[in-house]
Amino acid sequence: MNNKIEILKDKIQKAHLGGGQARIDSQHQKGKLTARERIHFLLDEGSFEEIGMLVTHRSTDFGMENEKYLGDGVITGYGTVNGRLTYVFSQDFTVFGGSLSETHAEKICKIMDMAMKNGAPIIGLNDSGGARIQEGVVSLGGYADIFYRNVQASGVIPQLSAIMGPCAGGAVYSPAITDFILMVENTSYMFVTGPNVVKTVTHEEVSSEELGGASTHATKSGVTHFACANEIEAINHLKKILSYVPQNCEDPAPFTPYEPSDEERTALNDILPSNANQPYDIREVIAQVADEESFLEVHAAYAENMVVGFARLAGRSIGVVANQPAYLAGVLDNNASVKAARFVRFCDCFNIPLLVFEDVPGFLPGTDQEWNGIITNGAKLLYAFSEATVPRITVITRKAYGGAYDVMNSKHIGADMNYAWPSAEIAVMGAKGAAEIIFKKEISAAENPEEKWLEKEKLYSDIFANPYRAAERGFVDEVIEPSKTREKLIKAFKMLENKVVKMPRKKHGNIPL
Ligand code: COA
Repeated sequence: MNNKIEILKDKIQKAHLGGGQARIDSQHQKGKLTARERIHFLLDEGSFEEIGMLVTHRSTDFGMENEKYLGDGVITGYGTVNGRLTYVFSQDFTVFGGSLSETHAEKICKIMDMAMKNGAPIIGLNDSGGARIQEGVVSLGGYADIFYRNVQASGVIPQLSAIMGPCAGGAVYSPAITDFILMVENTSYMFVTGPNVVKTVTHEEVSSEELGGASTHATKSGVTHFACANEIEAINHLKKILSYVPQNCEDPAPFTPYEPSDEERTALNDILPSNANQPYDIREVIAQVADEESFLEVHAAYAENMVVGFARLAGRSIGVVANQPAYLAGVLDNNASVKAARFVRFCDCFNIPLLVFEDVPGFLPGTDQEWNGIITNGAKLLYAFSEATVPRITVITRKAYGGAYDVMNSKHIGADMNYAWPSAEIAVMGAKGAAEIIFKKEISAAENPEEKWLEKEKLYSDIFANPYRAAERGFVDEVIEPSKTREKLIKAFKMLENKVVKMPRKKHGNIPL
C-alpha cells in the first residue's frame, strides 16, 4: 500500500508542477502568477478542492502522445469565496501555453455543469494561447461546448471572467458571454485577430497592447468592465463583485448586517450648483446616499456620461444607474445606453434592486450618433428597464428632458417609486430651446427679439422647470429635500422587498440588438 500511496503522491507533485519549473519561472518573469497561485489568492484559505487533476490529453498527432502533463493545462474545482461556494477554472500557461484541447474543454464543461446543478457562481481565470493547434477541430468543438454552456448559464448563475494573459481568436467569446470581464494592465490582451493578421489584412501597424490591452478595452471598446493594475487587484475585484450578487437567480441579493442610525445627509442639499447648466459629479451624490465606501463602479472609464455600479443601502445590495452631469452634461448616447442596458439586465437577472439617479438633458444629437444607431441603442435601455421586475426607484436630481425622461426608469415604464428633488426640471426640452420653437413668430415679430426670447424662456421655465407639474400628475410620487433621500430610499426599498411581477408568457422577448 505504501508504494501505491507514493505513486499517488508523485502524481500529485507532478501535477502541481504543471509544465515544469522553467516555465513557471518564465511565467513569474513576465510578472504573472501561476494558475495555482491565482486560485490560492482567490479562494478562502484551504477551501479549494480540485477536480480532474490527473486528466491528460488524447492527442496522438505530431508526437503529442509523448508529451503529456497531468491536468492538461487547466486547473478546475470548487472552493469558497468569503464562505460562499464558488467554482473556478484557471488556465495554466505553462502547459502548451494554456491552450485548449478536447480534454481541457471537457474539464471546464464539467465544472460549469456542476455550477449550474448546484446553483453557484463560476469564475474563469483565462491565460491561454487559444485552440490547441495540434488538435485541430476537436479543440474548436471544445470551445463551442463551453460557449453553449455559457449561454445556458447566463442569467442562472453569475459568471465572471478574469483575463490574465493572452485571450485571442475564438477564446474571446466565452468571456464575452459571461457577466463581467476583468483585465490586467500590460499582461493581458483580448482580440479576435492579432496584430499580424491585422497588418496583413488592413495594413495597420498596431501592438497587442494597443489593439486589445486592458486600457483599450476599458476605454474604447467597453469589452472589459474593469482594468486592474495587477493580478492581485483583479482577484480582489472578483471577490468584491461576488459580495454584491446572489449565488443564483433564485436567491435574493445578499444583505450585510446593518445598524440603523441617523440617515439624514445634509451634504446632499449643497451638491448641486446654483446654475442648472453647471456640472457636478453624480458620484458625490451616490457616495452620500449609499452606505459608506460601498460603491463599486463598473465600466468606470467607458461612456463616462453614464455611471453604473454596485452599492449597498442599509446593507442591501443595489445596482446604481446614473447620468453623469460632469461628463458631456450627462447626455444619453450610444455607448452610455448600451452600457446601462447591460447592467440593468444583469441586476434584473440576479434580483438586485435598481436605483436610478436622473439628470439628463436628452439624447446626443449628430450624424455620428444617428448613423451608429442611437435609435436601436437607446431602445435597448428603454427595453431593459421596462422588462426589469426587480424593485426600481428613480431620483430626479435635476434635468429630465424629452424621450430621455421616459427611458431613465420613469413611472410609465414600470418604476415603483419616483422621487424628485426641488431642483428637478421635467420637460420636453430646456426652456431656451422650447421658447424658440413655440414662440418663434412672436419672437421674430418683436421689436427686441432677444428680450422677447428671454421673456418667453422665463415663462416656459416657470411652468416646467420644476418637479411640480409631474407631481400633480403622479408621475413623481414625492418631491423631497435632498438630505432626506437616503432615508426615503431605505424605507422604499424595504417596502418593495417582496415585489412580485408576472410578465406575459412568452418564449423570450426580442430586445433590439
Ligand atoms: N496550441 C498549442 N501550443 C501552444 C499554443 C497553441 N495555441 N499557443 C502557445 N503554445 C505553446 C508554445 O508552443 C510554447 O510551448 P513550449 O513551452 O513547449 O515552447 C508555449 O505554449 C508558450 O508559447 P510561446 O509562444 O513561447 O509564448 P509567448 O508568450 O511568447 O506567446 C502567444 C504567447 C499566445 C502569443 C503565442 O504562443 C501564440 O501566438 N500562440 C498561438 C495563438 C493562436 O493562433 N491560437 C490559435 C487560434 S485560437
